[in-house]
Amino acid sequence: MTPKQRERFAADVIGGLQCSPKTLPCKYFYDARGSELFEAICQTAEYYVTRADLALHEAHLAEIANCIGPNAHVIEFGSGAGIKTRKLLAALDRPRAYTPIEISAAALKRSAKELTQAFPDIEICPVRADYTRPIDDEALALDPPASRRVVYFPGSTIGNFTRDEARDFLVRMANIAGPKGAILVGVDLIKPRERLEAAYDDEDGITAQFNLNLLLRLQNDLGATLNLDDFAHEARFNDEARRIEMHLKAERDTVIELNGQRFKLAAGETIHTENSHKYSVSDFRELAETAGLASTRVWKDPEGLFSMHWLEKAKPPAGTTEG
Ligand code: AVJ
Repeated sequence: MTPKQRERFAADVIGGLQCSPKTLPCKYFYDARGSELFEAICQTAEYYVTRADLALHEAHLAEIANCIGPNAHVIEFGSGAGIKTRKLLAALDRPRAYTPIEISAAALKRSAKELTQAFPDIEICPVRADYTRPIDDEALALDPPASRRVVYFPGSTIGNFTRDEARDFLVRMANIAGPKGAILVGVDLIKPRERLEAAYDDEDGITAQFNLNLLLRLQNDLGATLNLDDFAHEARFNDEARRIEMHLKAERDTVIELNGQRFKLAAGETIHTENSHKYSVSDFRELAETAGLASTRVWKDPEGLFSMHWLEKAKPPAGTTEG
């Protein structure tokens, strides 16, 4: 981490620990160890999300490619290092270009290099940026332009946003996609509590390590003083908000010290570290509508665990003019 990133991290941590209830932003899960742990989560029997997303791609890629059409500019939110991106690019009809948008320079460089080798005929135009913040349109311009832009956001990272944030995020994706553009977004489906809680609390304790890794980062990257053994991983389904929440639970009274500030936790108190919202197909379709988007196609994996929506700008109601 650069000193500036560390400063930002510390400020976010202090801000979160000052809140009541206490929170920490989930984007800080992914240091090198956290990214490795996430890969390991994807291999657990309980975490079905990644496998279902891949199965969905395998089952429906031809149709998805057909929706995208020829000569498209695919813009992925994420590094594109995964197997799904390769499968998608391989299935497309003469794609014009592919742009991964990724905050980690190392991850971006690696994936751009690999994709350039694997797809010598596709222009690979990486953009290093935080996709949750505004993106310079210059960086996405092509000469000559593509037939259309398609913003590709697989996985179910949109679930990390609250419903309001997800709507705003969809609006931003639609703006990036432009007038003829489309959005392809992966959305995890709501399912019984037991199944969801198990997916976020696997038997081998990998997800627990992933969650607790945040506290390790406070120690190692920020020099915080805390007792790791005082905390336990907790995953619970919040019925009302229709989301899995991950928490770090204090098992006894304990203190986290950072930059001379002391944050006390009472036994049983938690730090809320992640939300993973779950949607039915109609639920997400309604959310997209509030963002001015029409979900015109939806695909599911063969087991019906995961979904992907094809979103286009909704036609303005009859009698209105655009502008
Ligand atoms: C990478 C955001 C899709 O929310 O399911 C996995 C992260 N957290 N297990 C998710 C995660 C705990 C994952 N996403």
